[in-house]
This record gives sequence, C-alpha cells and structure tokens, in this order.
Amino acid sequence: ERPAPPLASSVNSRTPPYAKLLARLQQIRQLLPGRPLTLAEKILFSHLDNAEESLFEGTRNGQDIRGKATLKLKPDRVAMQDASAQMALLQFMSCGLPSTAVPASIHCDHMIVGEKGADTDLPNSIKGNKEVFDFLESAGKRYGIEFWPPGAGIIHQSVLENYAAPGLMLLGTDSHTPNAGGLGCIAIGVGGADAVDALVDAPWELKAPKVRGVRLEGKLSGWASPKDIILHLAGKLTVRGGTGYIIEYHGPGVESLSCTGMATICNMGAEVGATTSIFPFTPSSHSPYLRSTHRGAIAEEAARIAASGSQNLLAADAGAEYDDEVVIDLNKLEPHINGPFTPDLSTPLSAFKDAVVANHWPETFGAGLIGSCTNSSYADMTRAESLVQQATSAGLKPKADFFITPGSEQIRATVSRDGTMETFEKAGGVVLANACGPCIGQWNRTDLKQKNEANAIFSSYNRNFPGRNDGNRKTMNFLASPELVTAMSYSGRTDFNPMTDSIPLPNGGQFKFAPPTGIDLPSAGFAVGNPDFEPTAPFPDSSVSVAIDPSSDRLALLEPFDKFPDGELSGLRVLVKVKGQCTTDTISAAGPWLKYKGHLPNISLNTLIGAVSADTNAVNSVTDTNGSTHTIPELAFKWKDEHQPWIVVAEHNYGEGSAREHAALQPRYLGCRVVLAKSFARIHETNLKKQGVVPLTFVNEEDYDRIHGCDEISTEGLYDVLRQGGKGGEIKLVFKEAKGGSEFRVDVKHTLSKDQCDFILAGSALNVLAKRSKG
Ligand code: F3S
Repeated sequence: ERPAPPLASSVNSRTPPYAKLLARLQQIRQLLPGRPLTLAEKILFSHLDNAEESLFEGTRNGQDIRGKATLKLKPDRVAMQDASAQMALLQFMSCGLPSTAVPASIHCDHMIVGEKGADTDLPNSIKGNKEVFDFLESAGKRYGIEFWPPGAGIIHQSVLENYAAPGLMLLGTDSHTPNAGGLGCIAIGVGGADAVDALVDAPWELKAPKVRGVRLEGKLSGWASPKDIILHLAGKLTVRGGTGYIIEYHGPGVESLSCTGMATICNMGAEVGATTSIFPFTPSSHSPYLRSTHRGAIAEEAARIAASGSQNLLAADAGAEYDDEVVIDLNKLEPHINGPFTPDLSTPLSAFKDAVVANHWPETFGAGLIGSCTNSSYADMTRAESLVQQATSAGLKPKADFFITPGSEQIRATVSRDGTMETFEKAGGVVLANACGPCIGQWNRTDLKQKNEANAIFSSYNRNFPGRNDGNRKTMNFLASPELVTAMSYSGRTDFNPMTDSIPLPNGGQFKFAPPTGIDLPSAGFAVGNPDFEPTAPFPDSSVSVAIDPSSDRLALLEPFDKFPDGELSGLRVLVKVKGQCTTDTISAAGPWLKYKGHLPNISLNTLIGAVSADTNAVNSVTDTNGSTHTIPELAFKWKDEHQPWIVVAEHNYGEGSAREHAALQPRYLGCRVVLAKSFARIHETNLKKQGVVPLTFVNEEDYDRIHGCDEISTEGLYDVLRQGGKGGEIKLVFKEAKGGSEFRVDVKHTLSKDQCDFILAGSALNVLAKRSKG
C-alpha cells in the first residue's frame, strides 16, 4: 500500500473543502432562485470570491451571466509542470510571501527526452537539467509545494491519481489541465501569472463561459474507445469551436465510460479551445477509481453529496440549459484518425484509406507512440497489450518503431508487475520515461535518414501541430486511440484498417486482429513503484534557500516591466504581420528551447520564429524601416535596444494551442505593447493582458489587408478605456504607412475588465500583486 497522503493541515488536504462549497451552493440558490444550474456552473459559482458581485455586476440581474459576467474565483489547488513552473515560481517569488495560499504541486515531466528508453534517457535528462530541477525542488521545499521529481510522472496523470476530486477547482499551468475534468473537477489550464493569483490568494478572473452539452447515448464496443469520442467531436467543433465554452458531458452513455476514459476526453477538450470539460460524478466509475488510488474517503463523501437532492454539487440540475448541444451515439461511433498537422481534421477509420490516397499522405509510417498524459491508463495499456499478444502469437513484430510512454510511476509499476510491459518489450517496444518526451518535442528520433524529410507517425497523443514531436515540420502526426496505433504499427502502413484488413504472415497465411479487450482497474490494486519518485512534503521551510546561480544561462530573476505611459501610445511600429495560423508554438517554440524557460532574455531569442510574415511570405523573415532583412527576434531585439515599441498584427485564433505564457512574456520583454488580431485563443489573450500587452481585435477584418510591416501606429481612446476600467468609448488605431506615409484609421475592440486595465496601467499583473503583497 502506498502511504496515506499527508493531511496534516486543512490547507494541505487533498480533500476538496466540501462543507464550504455546499454552503456556497446554497447561497447561489438564494441569489438565483428557481434557476437550474449546469454542473460547471455549480462548481464554478461555489468557488466565487464574492458571488453577488460576480453574478450581478455587468449582467441583467443575473439573467445573462454566461458570456457576460466576470467571475472572480478562488481555486482550491494549483499544479505546475516543470517548464512553466519556472516562470510561475519566479513570478511568485517576486511577491515576497513565505508560502503559497493554496496547496500546490510541481511535476517534472516536460524536460525529459525520449530516445533509447527510460533507463538511459532519465539519468541523461536529469543531468542536463539539474540546475532547473534543483531550483524547482528548493522552491518547492521553501514554499511548501509538493515537488514530484523527474520520472515520477506526467502532470495530468499524477493529478488524476492524487489530487483531482469531484467538485474541486484546480488551476494548472498546462493547457491539458482539463484532464482532471474526467474526475468531476473544474480544472483549467492557465499561464504562470494566473497561477500566481491563486498562489497569493488573489481572486482569479474568468469571463463566465457558455456551456455546451455533449449528450452521450449508447455504449462503446469493439474497437471504439473514449479517445474516438473526442477525436470525432474535435472534427465536429474544429479547433475554435470550444472557445468561450465549457464542455459538459451528460446522458446515459456516461455510465459506460471509465474514469480514465473520461479524463482522456476532457484532456483533448483543449484541442477545440474549450475553457475546460467536465463529467458528472458517476459512482460506478469514479468510486472504484478513487478507492483504487487510495482515496476511499473522498469516494464516500462524493457519493453522499451526489445523493443529496438539491445539494448535489456533483451533477447538473434537472432542466439545466445548455447554450447548445451535441449528441453522440456511442453505439454507432467508429474509430477515428485525426491529422495531420491539426487535431480537428477527423477521418473515420473506414474512410481513412481513401483519404491517404486523395491527400497523397505517405503510405507507410515510421513510428507508433502510445501512452502520454492523454492515454496511458490501465485500460489503455491492457487493451493495447491484448493486440500485441495476438500479433506475437501469430509470430509478428511491429513494422514501425513502437514507443510506450507511461503517464506515471504508479501506472508503470502496475503494468510492469502485471506483465504488460514485458509483453510490449518482448515485441520490440521501447518503454520511455514516465514523462512527456516525444509529446513535447523532446524526441531524439533516429529512424529518419534526413532530419526534415516528409514522413508520417501515429500517436495516441493529443496534439499534432507541425514540429510538435520531433522538431520536423514535415512530420505528419496522425492521432488515434492507443489500440489503433498499436495495431497499425504491426502493418507499418497508413492505409491499413485493422477492423477489415489482414497482415500477411511469413508462412503465407493471413493474420487479422480481433477487437481489443482490456481491464479498467488492476484487480490487485495499483503498485507503489519506486519510492524515489514520491513527492516532497507540502510544508514550507523558510530555512531553505532557493537555488539560482546569478551567472546561469537557464534561470534569471525577473525585472518588473515598465508601466503604461501617461497617455495614448504613439510611435509604435508593426514588427510583423503574421499570415495564417499562429500558435503558441509559433510564438515561443518548444523542443530545445524548453531549456531556457526560466531565463527570459535567452528564451526570447526564439520569439515568433515560426511565424509567416504576410509581407515577405517567408517564415521568420521581416524587414526593418531601412529595408534590411532580419529574423523576427533579431529585429525585435534591435528595436528593444533602440527603445522602439511595437505591435504584432495577426489573423484568427492568435495564440491557440497552449497555456504557454512565454508566448506573452517574450514579446512584452522585447517591447511589444499591442497585439491586433482577427481573434484570440482565450488563454493566450488573458496571458497577454497579465503581462501588460493590450490584445485588440478588428471591428472590420478586411482592415488586416491594409496593414504592413513597419507601419507606424498610435492609439485613440485606449488610455481612456484603461483609466475607466474597461468602460470608455471606441478605440481606434491610427496607422501611418511606412511606404508612402498615408494615414488611415482602424476600428478595434477590446475585452478588458477593470482588473485587467489595472494590470496594463501598472505594467503587468505581477506589478499589481507585488505591490499588494508588500503592503
Ligand atoms: Fe506532456 Fe502535455 Fe504531452 S503534459 S504528455 S506534453 S500533452
């Protein structure tokens, strides 16, 4: 048995504060009498700092909360992964507090490379990142944050196994934090600056999301898996379809899903841009999972609350209204494959063969990768194992390289004990460390002859933007369930359909897979695993000094950003007019750059290197006012030195893809004051505001065509809006063309709240918090 988690103080308890939440729910019922609530609303509203203010200010007496009200929330817990934790902690440290106000955890997962296997890769990665891991561990010990060392597991799997609980509200500095919604949490991916709000007990702001219901009917069977529900939904909603929404699953089909299957579905709600996704507490799935992960007391408490009628915090009220609804019949759902290059290009398995031909996608693929934070549950692993056993009995080996990434030490130890790992390894599978590895560009890939050749891979991961996995923008990552990835790896062909096709055997016969079978939870319980991977204790120790070497090129203390000028902005220039998709990877690339996450000047050298300039039609190539050509970061650094502030102009969904706050911090550090886009991804828009950058959108999108690099800009009306806390009148940007010098005005819109105006005027949210906490 794993020792009981430390529960020495109520602050550090892993049990949600149910008594407080239920009392708040009662208060909400009084404020909104007769209004049935969705599950998401119940949990969100019961975490409001001041319910009356949040629900009634800016709304028609609480009638139109969704999309209108600004919720000021007090989350219960914060989780941070190693790459984003560095900046979150550096920001938290600037506030000068002795400990965090809410329980928090750090998970070392992103900075671990996948190549030869866990035994070699993990020690190498620890050696290469020692300075950063030492910093995170020392900060964890000093401020009472549980530190999960490298190799312990991937943040979302560790959170699901240890911290997620029905009714909890969690912020995580990673965009797939909604994974915990599979266990009935409101779990939202945020940037480090938002996490700092919760860590210092300042209310965290969220525009009240709309709620999209997804009604599940029927029951999955055969090859169809929970992953296929979200792959199918991503195709329906597209990468922008969830923006401004929480996705709330309900209906009879929910009962048939495992807790970890629900987590997979919620995890990939990030791929449609949803604020988060959530499932109701389902005793038949959640109680066994909570018990098997040593949280029987929470299972009992949740069951009691779920049976309490109007006090049921853990499911939607009868008659709760959704802003819109999608219905999925699980009986008819077939496996899907999504990609390449975008997770919403969804093709049913039966149509994939034709799609390969029609799109000239490669007919063969080099690697099949299963596991990761999205799909490494016991059910996922045992279903994949059942296919490997079938193929092994027929004398087959995978034709593609086959990699397995366990999501946590608990999963790894359990499937090792139960023989699953041995099955994979005997088949030639390579078991990588319990970490992100190839899912985040940390993949030392060896099977390609040329590093940037066009090729295909299949993975059970969640994200497939160009360059995401191996740094090669021509690698086409097709997303599928672990069982489909496993079966297809035996064929090595992209046009193989394991439901209908056979693989030739050396003896001239044919082998055809039977549908996979698996086990949701291990009958012998979860194994404990390596005790070195247990977290540190959650108690602050002020005698620990936080390890930062002043000469380090990996870590640097933060300097406060300058405040907004006393008046309108003028003399700004367009650094780059971005053409097409601009993800957070485009703005702040991962892979080798992860190394510099804690050193703002150094990581800023990658700023916007993936962006296509609409002027030059080239990636990472812009021109200065004198006509000289530069890379984007080169020109940004030059303009920083010349005290030349600048703006970025972009198209739709600017900053999609992740919670990466470096995508806001770096431009701000280099002198960016405004981003003008056709639309923004939610997390990134918030991150910009927190760092003191003003995000604006076009009133008329056609104005995008009138703008060019180096055009000079001043603002009209922005300063008034900021001083009036987001109210004020219209804002215009006045452009003076760099070529020709003629002037034109562009009408723009903002979504600034009062607090966000204060952040921008002060220079950043951190400047406000630091001032507040230093009194
Ligand atoms: Fe890690 Fe995020 Fe992938 S947590 S496993 S990089 S989706």
